Amino acid sequence: MSAVRSTMASWRAEKPKETVVVECTEVSGDAETGEHGDSKQRAQHKPRILTWHTYLAALGLLAIILLVADISETIAAHILRERDADDPLANWGKPGTGTEELSWYPTDFLRDVVPVPCHSHNDYWRKVPLFSAIYAGCTGVEADVWLREGDLYVGHDKASLQPNRTFQSLYVNPLVEILTHQNPTTDFYKGNKNGVFDTDRGRTLVLLIDLKTDGPETWPWVMKQLTPLREKGWLSYSEDGQFHQGPITVVGTGNTPFDLIVGNGSSSYRDAFFDAPLDQLENSPYNSTNSYYASVNFWNAIGAVWWRGGPSETQLEMIRKHLREARDRGLKSRYWGLPGWPIHVRNFLWEVLVGEEIGMLNVDDLDAATGQDWTRPGTF
Ligand SMILES: *[C@@H]1O[C@H](CO)[C@@H](O)[C@H](O)[C@H]1NC(C)=O
Ligand SMILES: *[C@@H]1O[C@H](CO)[C@@H](O)[C@H](O)[C@H]1NC(C)=O
Ligand SMILES: *[C@@H]1O[C@H](CO)[C@@H](O)[C@H](O)[C@H]1NC(C)=O
Repeated sequence: MSAVRSTMASWRAEKPKETVVVECTEVSGDAETGEHGDSKQRAQHKPRILTWHTYLAALGLLAIILLVADISETIAAHILRERDADDPLANWGKPGTGTEELSWYPTDFLRDVVPVPCHSHNDYWRKVPLFSAIYAGCTGVEADVWLREGDLYVGHDKASLQPNRTFQSLYVNPLVEILTHQNPTTDFYKGNKNGVFDTDRGRTLVLLIDLKTDGPETWPWVMKQLTPLREKGWLSYSEDGQFHQGPITVVGTGNTPFDLIVGNGSSSYRDAFFDAPLDQLENSPYNSTNSYYASVNFWNAIGAVWWRGGPSETQLEMIRKHLREARDRGLKSRYWGLPGWPIHVRNFLWEVLVGEEIGMLNVDDLDAATGQDWTRPGTF
């Protein structure tokens, strides 16, 4: 990164200098060979055209250098990612490993995993849904859920839905398995509220459920399928205005109807929470008794961040306002749709958001987010 930056810096510094040199050469060249009265005029005009071309060429070259720098950053990141030969998920799903039928859940693999507040977006398309995210240490995972013929399926779009990729098989059952392992019942040990992370057993894992089909129709199915987790007392809940944290915190987004989360008859008990709109918290009914995240699309709410200069002063003020509103209501702020490329822009934005104490960092690149090195300037 520092190499990239210094390359960029020297390019910025050199560009005008070079232009000046070319201009001078042309002017003097013209002046020397110039004939009679129009030499002065030509000396004024021709260099201007050349300068314009030179600028274009320099800009083009600059763009190419930055592109190459960014591609090599990306490649370096991928090479680094291949490093982990001990990855317990490396052979998942391969024939002969007993994992082909989704029936095998690694439970011992979380021993050294240190949780970090990042949310693994679109988690199900990873090689091993859920586990990849937990193994990377992310304390939030997301499932896009579709109601089809009496069951809930997980997938990014209709075409990706498969009979064996259900909400139950990919999320609920594995979580029950992991938590059962984390909470053994022995004569010496009776506690049953350990979370999934060995290194931080009090940490909750947020299960963000993005309803893709009709909300009022689909939501009751979600509530019903969470029963195994609910019965064990593993869901965070709120009652009588108090939030009680459990190993799993269920948050509904997408088509999830706020009414169905709030309106629960005369009971004040809730074990699922709303993903409130981060940019509309002022004078809103959202607080920690009914919501957990407060999220918004970064591009829509804050706008584009193109360059390493990061968010503008106006953008930063907007971000601070959002995060303050969320904090005041006890909600975890989260931006999705963060720019993912170029990598140095993304990393810088992550640094800014963490510096501003964002509640949850939304990521598509788990290893980059949890590898910690992105917070240190000068990596790569
Ligand atoms: C899911 O089912 C499809 C088709 O029946 C099969 O090709 C695939 O290997 C199965 N995947 C898993 C992980 O069980
Ligand atoms: C509503 O309350 C009942 C118990 O009174 C509970 O079983 C159910 O899960 C609650 N619904 C939600 C969305 O929390
Ligand atoms: C949370 O919001 C609900 C609905 O807007 C309100 O009735 C309740 O008093 C609020 N609770 C807290 C602790 O702010």
